[in-house]
Amino acid sequence: MEHDPALTDRLRDDLTASGFAVAGVEEVLGAVAADALHREEPVPALRATEGSDDPVAVLVRAFLLGEPVSARRLQAALPSLGIPGATRLGLVRSDGDQVRALVDLRPYAAVDGGGEVNWWIASDLGELATGNALRTDHVLGVGGASTTLAQVTIRDERRMVLDLGTGCGIQALHASRHSRRVVGTDISARALEFARFNALLAGVRLELRAGSMLEPVADERFDLVVSNPPFVITPRTPGMPSYEYRDGGRSGDAIVRELVEGVGSVLAPGGVAQLLGNWEVRRGEQWHERVGSWLDASGLDGWVVQRELQDPAQYAETWIRDGGTTPDRDRAAWASRYGSWLDDFASRDVEAIGFGFLTLRRPLAGAPSLRRLEEATGTVRQPLGPVIAASLGAHDWLEVHDDDGLLAAHLVVAPDVTEERYLTPGESDPQVVLLRQGGGFGRAVQAGTALAGFVGACDGDLSVGQIVNALGALLDVGADAVAADILPSARGLVRDGLLVPSS
Ligand SMILES: C[S@@+](CC[C@H](N)C(=O)[O-])C[C@H]1O[C@@H](n2cnc3c(N)ncnc32)[C@H](O)[C@@H]1O
Repeated sequence: MEHDPALTDRLRDDLTASGFAVAGVEEVLGAVAADALHREEPVPALRATEGSDDPVAVLVRAFLLGEPVSARRLQAALPSLGIPGATRLGLVRSDGDQVRALVDLRPYAAVDGGGEVNWWIASDLGELATGNALRTDHVLGVGGASTTLAQVTIRDERRMVLDLGTGCGIQALHASRHSRRVVGTDISARALEFARFNALLAGVRLELRAGSMLEPVADERFDLVVSNPPFVITPRTPGMPSYEYRDGGRSGDAIVRELVEGVGSVLAPGGVAQLLGNWEVRRGEQWHERVGSWLDASGLDGWVVQRELQDPAQYAETWIRDGGTTPDRDRAAWASRYGSWLDDFASRDVEAIGFGFLTLRRPLAGAPSLRRLEEATGTVRQPLGPVIAASLGAHDWLEVHDDDGLLAAHLVVAPDVTEERYLTPGESDPQVVLLRQGGGFGRAVQAGTALAGFVGACDGDLSVGQIVNALGALLDVGADAVAADILPSARGLVRDGLLVPSS
């Protein structure tokens, strides 16, 4: 792609004037065609845009659907850039009076810590547009994993951010909104070209460097590292395609282990790394033992959330399809790749593959104090970034509040917490009381009589100790028994944001 600031300015002006935004595209397509397109099914979108002079429809046909469009229509949709300008930028090529897109270019909208963003992101055309299996150096656009990482990222002000494996640059673009400098790295020169183009189009300054893993930044320190790395576990069988965007070239889950164990070397004290990853669950071993051993080797605070677990067959199907091989297209290749995947997993006794996100932090001083590995496979309320930041803060608060400190503290119930009581019909006392978090991880915590009474009294007026004393008298068991019962749970509720220190 060509990086020409003047032409890119014209492109931005044209895309803005034409209304080529997420809402504009959905309006032109309608909900049904937009949903079908999200499922990689183009037929309704092709029908919705056919024969239309609407600039958004023309741009959708060209850049999302990979259809040839008439030069007249595209010229009208990009009047100041024009087809010669779009050709020079490497966006299109002409074929008689038809023009074809060479790249995928689509609007992107999100809300992050700094408010709403509206960008356009260029990447390689996907399978839907080309009708072909992906090239092994395919540069991915913004996908589900990209969005997940962007939403779990803590958006506090930072000085230096690293986006490792920047691809089209989406994480780096978000990072630019809350940091002074952003370095994006990638092993793929083509990916860096796209990232440079997207940054120019967004009017954002990024430092982009070629190289593998931490090598391009080995001597630097970052306050935040984000990475959606090429974590897909791929058999090292001869002839198996290796896609740069998803395959780090290692055996099994070694790439994620390498990153978890090594990222501390580029983190400034207090610096945070947020990563996505897959990990193998091997026979006789719990997932958290394996990933926990990586945390131990990292020397960092660590919090791992496993969001999904797939069996080897599901995993193989997902990733063989993702590369464009299907049983309909090529049954022999499908069967042979499927077999290689199963053999590869069997060779290491892999029974399942976990997916999740990791938050690592270099302690300001001393040894790590946070080691948490949990499953959260239900619905979460994104963005989780602020929730993760608050939980790290709560962890630090708890570290400096022993039980005496906690008893002296005042806590309030977070506004999104509700209490659910389950009663046997006719009974007046609930059998089960649940404290339910409305936001974030949507946690539900079962509370006994003392804990439910305690949380109910946490309005910030009385200290924890005063509430414990009152409950000890009320329940006739003494304050010490109540403290022993509820303080560990109260710590958990503070850590997870259901209770918040008010002093
Ligand atoms: C899953 S994509 C993520 C792209 C983008 N950051 C996002 O969130 O959508 C992984 C990226 O890592 C890059 N990559 C692959 N191997 C790498 C390596 N050894 N070192 C650095 N980057 C690598 C790929 O080229 C690709 O751009």
